[in-house]
Amino acid sequence: MAFLFLGSCKKIRYIVKYQKERIKKEGINLKILAVGDLVGTAGIKELKRQLKKIKEKEKIDFVIVNAENSAEGMGITEKNFNELLEENIDVITMGNHTWGKKDIFKFIDNPKLIRPANYPKDVVGKGYGIYNCNNKKITVINLIGRVDMNVLSENPFLKAKEIVEKIQKQVDIILIDFHAEATAEKIAMGYYLDGKITALYGTHTHVQTADEKLLPQGTAYITDIGMTGPKYSVIGMDIQASIKRFETTLPEKYKIATGECIFNGVIFDIDDNTNKVKEIKRINIK
Ligand SMILES: [Fe+2]
Repeated sequence: MAFLFLGSCKKIRYIVKYQKERIKKEGINLKILAVGDLVGTAGIKELKRQLKKIKEKEKIDFVIVNAENSAEGMGITEKNFNELLEENIDVITMGNHTWGKKDIFKFIDNPKLIRPANYPKDVVGKGYGIYNCNNKKITVINLIGRVDMNVLSENPFLKAKEIVEKIQKQVDIILIDFHAEATAEKIAMGYYLDGKITALYGTHTHVQTADEKLLPQGTAYITDIGMTGPKYSVIGMDIQASIKRFETTLPEKYKIATGECIFNGVIFDIDDNTNKVKEIKRINIK
């Protein structure tokens, strides 16, 4: 028993020493990893393959994953959801395929799952969550765009403003996953919320953009963080099936592409004193 106690004391002393050294070297900060749209079982597998390595290398404290395509492109199943929980994902965000699999109604109230906040009032689930991490209160908000999305939703700008005004005094950090097609809609949202939130990143197009930046008032921004899924594909889908749809205009059944995968995401390095992003870094493992 005494040996066990001495052993754990040694371990604690080592962790404290390690943390002190890290703070001395890097300054106090909090690192948040946002992973781009997981496409299918292949995407989940790739997440499992890369996450531990990235977390260790980059000293990640908090992980957000967009999983609206994890059920072979359409929604999320209970199996997918449990697999993600096993990876200790902190927040799972959704998008236009939120209701793609009816399984979701079994776990829609799980605090780790959020769906777009600008769905009509009283729709099941919640559009944002508040989480504790390293003595900070982090809010993650999920929104869906209205340009070329084919989803009937409320105005995402007004909804974002409403939520931010409601919660900004209670929390330290606010991040938004804006699931939208149009570049202009995402850029406009970034400037609309500049200085009011910590970071806004886009999802949905599955192609990572190289426009990551800190906006004039300090909000970190990127138009799209990309996809985690099959590399040789049409945004995750089988190439020939996708081409046939465009060539013939017939409703060819979509299927997930096979083969090697890419991992896309972004890391926000947040200053502990200001709660502002010091650095925004793209992750693009090909
Ligand atoms: Fe989407």
